[in-house]
Amino acid sequence: MIKPLRKAVFPVAGLGTRFLPATKAMAKEMLPVVDKPLIQYAVEEARAAGIEQFCMVTGRGKTAIVEHFDIAYELEATLRGRGKDAELRSLRDWQPAAGSIVTVRQQEPLGLGHAIWCARAFIGDDPFAILLPDDLILSETPVTKQLANAYYETGGCVVAVTEVPHEQTQRYGILDVGADDGRLVEVKGLVEKPKPEDAPSDLSIIGRYVLTSGVIQHLSRMERGAGGEVQLTDAMAKMIGHEPFHGLRYEGRRFDCGDKIGFLEAQIAFALKRPDMGPAVKQFLSGYCADLFPRG
Ligand code: UTP
Repeated sequence: MIKPLRKAVFPVAGLGTRFLPATKAMAKEMLPVVDKPLIQYAVEEARAAGIEQFCMVTGRGKTAIVEHFDIAYELEATLRGRGKDAELRSLRDWQPAAGSIVTVRQQEPLGLGHAIWCARAFIGDDPFAILLPDDLILSETPVTKQLANAYYETGGCVVAVTEVPHEQTQRYGILDVGADDGRLVEVKGLVEKPKPEDAPSDLSIIGRYVLTSGVIQHLSRMERGAGGEVQLTDAMAKMIGHEPFHGLRYEGRRFDCGDKIGFLEAQIAFALKRPDMGPAVKQFLSGYCADLFPRG
């Protein structure tokens, strides 16, 4: 019997060094795209996939993330008093149920694998989704929902994958690919950050996963991988062959918001989609385009 997917883990304990100085005193996951912090996009995406229990793996300087999911009584009372209903709704509509968010602490950022291991008591024997909030995806169907569907279809682990330029394989976890129907890919092996000449394919994992709890026993060995970190990819690689393991070519456009250029692009793409802002953004962009690419 396939166990229902109800839990999600949000590892948010990284240092965010690519975004310094912005992330000196503020969590990367609180950076807003248009007017919503990255962590809120991730939690909303998980809820849309039927997730009911949320675990944030936090570290030093990350308290604002947890507070974002509290009710701001004074602010709400003030808004109510002023008749600001739309603003009030913008604070409440996305709040998960009371008691459904837990936090665990990763005292040292020893790697993504270590962060997931820190959530082991929350995970128990259940399947769980992982969402890295700095990967933001614009899609018709939320990517975690796409992965959940694939999990129920295959009964095993599923990771979201996309093709990356061959010369960039060293930045990602890369798949060794078996049977491939163009959407679902059988995973034969996984390598973290291989050099292009060693990469078994150009198909890379992005920050969305659905895993079974078996990964925890591999993580508990605390083996260090690429960059001296405890790598989730290495633990996942050990599960292959013991249970179904697939990559899903998701529908959607992904922005790496842990990177300055990716973050800037996400701002524009998300603002263009907004009915209240899209036309104004289009107008200023066409001004820049005219300056940058003058006609003939
Ligand atoms: P990144 O590789 O983006 O690392 O982590 P980072 O520290 O956040 O950012 P840079 O590279 O220094 O700029 C991917 C995800 O894993 C989490 C991060 O918070 C992010 O969501 N993470 C990473 C942890 O929770 N703990 C860790 O030890 C490492």
